[in-house]
Amino acid sequence: MTDSSFTIDAHIEPGADVDAIKLEMVRALTSTPKKLTPKWLYDDRGSELFDEITKLTEYYPTEAERSILAERAKDIAEITGADTLVELGSGTSDKTRTLLDAFWDRGLLRRFVPFDVSEATLIEAAAMLAERYNGLDVHAVVGDFNQHLPKLPAEGRRMIAFLGSTIGNFHVEERRAFLGALADTLEAGEWLLLGADLVKDVDRIVKAYNDDAGITRDFTLNVLEVLNREFDGNLPIDNFDFVPLWDPTEERIDIRLRAATPCVARFDALDLDINFGEGEELRVEVSTKFRREGITAELADAGFEVAEFWTADGPSGTDEADFSLILARRV
Ligand code: AVJ
Repeated sequence: MTDSSFTIDAHIEPGADVDAIKLEMVRALTSTPKKLTPKWLYDDRGSELFDEITKLTEYYPTEAERSILAERAKDIAEITGADTLVELGSGTSDKTRTLLDAFWDRGLLRRFVPFDVSEATLIEAAAMLAERYNGLDVHAVVGDFNQHLPKLPAEGRRMIAFLGSTIGNFHVEERRAFLGALADTLEAGEWLLLGADLVKDVDRIVKAYNDDAGITRDFTLNVLEVLNREFDGNLPIDNFDFVPLWDPTEERIDIRLRAATPCVARFDALDLDINFGEGEELRVEVSTKFRREGITAELADAGFEVAEFWTADGPSGTDEADFSLILARRV
């Protein structure tokens, strides 16, 4: 038996945004260069493949962040004194368990607010968490963190966790807008816990996005299956090559799909025909790597003061850190 409660606020109505989504997709596919938003990568198959990526030896971020969290979770609970933990893009809340345990053990935790685009994932996670933490108020929110941050429940003394370096998916301007929206959502004295991957040896970064088993390639090409399914399309998937590039100016991985030969695709649901020239690319996602000074300054611009900047060591023999976990206070 449990006296935990669990509620769900849905800000994404099934079917409600269809026209907006179609318009966004037409714009994305007709812009120069053609580009997508990374959210299309995460259908059921894509989520499974991403899960496989996190287990690859080449993909260091997951284990690096996990090790910092394991080491620092108690400190985070103590420093923040938060009684409400919000997690953006929480998925099944696996990593969060470490944080929740630390807050719970100190007797601080009253409320957990998992925030995700997938209602099914949230229902599963919320039910499991309400069971595990007897008395915890689980207040799940279905939303898109580009739009619905103002809908986050305001009760309690909050810490918002945004882990896994998902912040790396934003372009510079999007990142500024996102951090600004987070700052607007929080009150002075509330907290942000941010996982951010760091600039390091380029080969090590590139290997993390171009693994030997080809899982990242499959994960990326799957987005074409998603587009064909969602928009009644006929993109010739076999005609596309996986192209993960390191952009030394922006210090980010830039993942593209490149048409080997000229091809045409029809999307019935968009009433749209798309031409790809030989070698033309579709930009799928970026994964930005950060430097301490840079991300600290961006946080300061948004209204956050960095209280702790923890890092995980890189491979032995190097003196570069692999990954950072940043605890910042809304000022
Ligand atoms: C989920 C955005 C953090 O950028 O490392 C992994 C996505 N793409 N491999 C990342 C990803 C290809 C991942 N994030």
